[in-house]
Amino acid sequence: MTAWTSRQLAEQTGRTFVITGANSGIGLEAARDLVGRGAHVVLAVRDVAKGEAARALITSGAKGSAEVRQLDLADLDSVAAFAKGLTEKLESDGRLLNALVCNAGVMGGPLLFTTQGFERQVGTNHLGHVALVTALWPALHSAGGRVVVVSSIASRGGRLSTSSTREDLVAPSPYESQKVYSNAKQANLLFAQDLHRRVVAAGSPVSVVACHPGVSWTNLFSRQLRDEGRGWLVPALFLIRPIIFQSATAGAQPTLRALDPSTPSGAFVGPKLLNQVRGRPELLEVFATGSDPEVAAHISQLTGDVLGTPLPI
Ligand SMILES: NC(=O)c1ccc[n+]([C@@H]2O[C@H](COP(=O)([O-])OP(=O)(O)OC[C@H]3O[C@@H](n4cnc5c(N)ncnc54)[C@H](OP(=O)(O)O)[C@@H]3O)[C@@H](O)[C@H]2O)c1
Repeated sequence: MTAWTSRQLAEQTGRTFVITGANSGIGLEAARDLVGRGAHVVLAVRDVAKGEAARALITSGAKGSAEVRQLDLADLDSVAAFAKGLTEKLESDGRLLNALVCNAGVMGGPLLFTTQGFERQVGTNHLGHVALVTALWPALHSAGGRVVVVSSIASRGGRLSTSSTREDLVAPSPYESQKVYSNAKQANLLFAQDLHRRVVAAGSPVSVVACHPGVSWTNLFSRQLRDEGRGWLVPALFLIRPIIFQSATAGAQPTLRALDPSTPSGAFVGPKLLNQVRGRPELLEVFATGSDPEVAAHISQLTGDVLGTPLPI
């Protein structure tokens, strides 16, 4: 069988996608590809100026279009305002929401908290996205849309379990930043799997696919080094970049394959080479840390308690 490439993605004219964190890295490259095939992409970004720069870059000479909308996943009020504004705009433009890509993320750094007081990595990467999916659920449901959740190979080191408490999720102590990142990306994977099981049980037209980008050259690692006061290591990172990282364009391929309608709901997409660090996007076994339905249901329950609203289905 020939390997999947994004050339297999059909023409996307008339279809609308939302990508969180689309001003940089994997989100930017996924948006660029979709706009190139005629799609309309909503760049959901926390910094509108960065979003406008990205919009100018990817729409120049492209078949499709893009718009920038402000979204701070670390503030649940911003998530609610984004979803309300977007839903109204979709209605007034007569557009359907074909897919929501939960891509934005932060890794490492010191112990910081979201506006509502939750640890920043779990708050941004997991809670903000669950709140966003929930708020956009009516639009996703009417379109028979797709939710794509970007996880990570770091989720293999996640330690969330059926015994995890609310504090483990939102106020981890002691704070070990890389372990908390692993838990946040494990929570992404568990959420995607649980949501998939729920849509199947309910006969919902929405589909859900998880993916991971291997290890790709984006702003994620240099930002982590700077946040942790080790910015002096960034030039060294540039030097070893070709050895360790695949390109952001390659890292966006799992996201694009996850958006391909030929990829079934419940699938997990990522590269396979070098223990899944790089390569073409393939359909993978879900990591053991992300596949237990009981753990997934427990984390969904905790997440619903923290957000004050259950999962949308
Ligand atoms: N690169 C890799 O090797 C790798 C590996 C595994 C998983 N991932 C995952 O891939 C996804 C994309 O990351 P990337 O590698 O492309 O890194 P990136 O270049 O740093 O992009 C991250 C994006 O998330 C946005 N973001 C951060 N906090 C946000 C918030 N509170 N609200 C809204 N947006 C926010 C950033 O916005 P600003 O530019 O304004 O900060 C940026 O647009 C993440 O989920 C990451 O965990 C990446």
